[in-house]
Order: sequence, then structure tokens, then C-alpha cells
Amino acid sequence: MKKIAVLTSGSDAPGMNAAIRAVVRRGIFKGLDVYGVQHGFKGLIDGNFVFMSLGSVGDIIQRGGTILQNTHFENFKTEEVQKQALAQLVEAGIEGLIVIGGDGSFKGAEKLNSHGFPTVGIPGTIDNDVVGTEYTIGFDTAVNTAVEAIDKIRDTASSHDRTYIVEVMGRDSGDIALWAGMCAGAESIIIPEAKYEVEDIITRLKHGHDRGKKHSIIVVAEGVGKGIGTELGKIIQEKTGFETKVTILGHLQRGGSPSAYDRMMSSQMGAKAVDLLVEGEKGIMVGLKNGELIHTPFEESIKEKQIVDLNIYHLARSLSI
Ligand code: F6P
Repeated sequence: MKKIAVLTSGSDAPGMNAAIRAVVRRGIFKGLDVYGVQHGFKGLIDGNFVFMSLGSVGDIIQRGGTILQNTHFENFKTEEVQKQALAQLVEAGIEGLIVIGGDGSFKGAEKLNSHGFPTVGIPGTIDNDVVGTEYTIGFDTAVNTAVEAIDKIRDTASSHDRTYIVEVMGRDSGDIALWAGMCAGAESIIIPEAKYEVEDIITRLKHGHDRGKKHSIIVVAEGVGKGIGTELGKIIQEKTGFETKVTILGHLQRGGSPSAYDRMMSSQMGAKAVDLLVEGEKGIMVGLKNGELIHTPFEESIKEKQIVDLNIYHLARSLSI
């Protein structure tokens, strides 16, 4: 193998740039030419390949977002479009592809692989919801951003004796809510993976109030339902009489300089992906299990969603009584 390409796809995540850097630098170290594909799978169709030198990935390890840019590209599901992408790769003399993204991106990567084009994935999404890895790039930074924001909200909540509902990201997964809620000492955490009862939240709020606690934070994952934060805020205010405000953290959780842990994971996973491609591996995603880098076939990683660790959920409940 002499020429490989790398692309980022789906939603961006802090640490994607560090992963691009690792792929490019490890590739060059291994004697490869490395190309960046701009705008994800759409860039493949357009043949949007850029030669990546050592210097092209300088000064990006600390930057959020992705220098290669991402496009949500629904069309990649059709065979005709997949074949166009293959033709572009072959014409450019590229022999292997590394895809950095979530499970949606790996569906595209799996298609290319099944058409005979060697492809390796690196899990990158703030949601931490990919099967086959305990960690996805960007999660740590997003959780830290959410915790910092909730700490600030708690300051003002306590000054005004208010209840705050903080809605955090996670399309289908409650992991950001779970970690941010636990680490910011939320009074309740609501995630799609665990049933919740409004009455239970209210009982917990009142219990805290009775023992002199005049402010509370409830963290809810957006994946519980559209507009869930606002809806809950109204119900809780009505039923408790406590002044309740809603803050939706939104996309600020996706930006910012990656944490040291994200940079470390990105660097290790990026280099591993190159090594695997060079060794002739394909159709797999790099992952982390029990502190070790492992790999999983795309077919497995796209089958279902990673389930959060419900032990953390129950622990958080028992610590916020
Ligand atoms: O998958 C990452 C994520 O940030 C989810 O948490 C969120 O639901 C979604 O992407 C938002 O996507 P978009 O930026 O396209 O609105």
C-alpha cells in the first residue's frame, strides 16, 4: 500500500483534528502518501482529495472541529453513488481509506469495504454510542464542557433558589447526560436508556427542599424526546411551585479545544488505524476495551447502539438523595 486517504464524517467532535494529524503523521512515518478528503463522503464523489504533508497537520492537535470539514450526505446510501466514490478513489490511485465518525459514517465505510475497497474506521462522536468501543473521540471534551456549564448554572441557581433543567446533547444516547449529571452533582438525571417518572423527580425535589435545599439541577438528554427540557420545566414548575428555568446547552458541547484524554485517544486510534490498513486489515473499526486498543468488524459496530453503563445511573441516584 502506497497511498491512503482520510476523511471525517457525520457530526464533528473535538479531537477529530488530532486524529487526522495522527493518521497523516503515522502514514508518512510508514512511507505512505496520505490524502485528506474534504467534506466527508460528498468529497469522495467530487474527488475532493488534498495531499497532506507533515506541515499540513501542524498546529491542529489543540483545535476543535475538523480541518477536513464534514457534510451530512444522505445520498451515499445508493449503490450508484458508492460506485462513483470508488471510481474517484481508484482514479486517484488511493488504495485504502480511514473514516473518522460515528456509526452512520461506518455504514458508508462498510459499503465501500463490501465493494472491495479497504476501509478502517475511527470512532469519533461526542455521543459515545458506538458498539465495539468503550470510548469515542470527543466525549470527554463534551462532558467537561457540559460540567463546566452546569457548575456555572448552579451558582446562579443557588443565588436565586431556582430549579434548573439542563438539556444536553446525545441524539439517541444518554451518556453525556449521565456523566455530566454525575460529575456536576445533578439532583436527577434523565436518559433514554432508563424509564423515568415525573412524580419521582418531583418527590426527590421536594425531599431536597424539605431538608433546606432551595435549588436543584436536573440534567436531561435530548434523546429522551424533542423539546423534553422545555416540557419538563413547565410540568415541574406547575406541580411544585418552584421557580424552574430551562437551559439547552446545544452545539457549544461540540466545539472547543479537545481535552488531553481526547488528544491521547485520537493519537493512539489514528496511528492504530494506519497500522491496521498497512497490515492488510479492512472492514473494521478501531476501538477501546479495558484500556486496550482493539478492532471490531463494521457489521457489528453498525448493528445497534452502545448501551450506557446503568451502574453509573443507579449510583448517581443513590448519591443525590
Ligand atoms: O451526534 C452528535 C450530535 O451532536 C448529537 O448529540 C446531536 O443530536 C446531533 O449531533 C446534532 O446534529 P446537527 O449538528 O446536525 O444538528
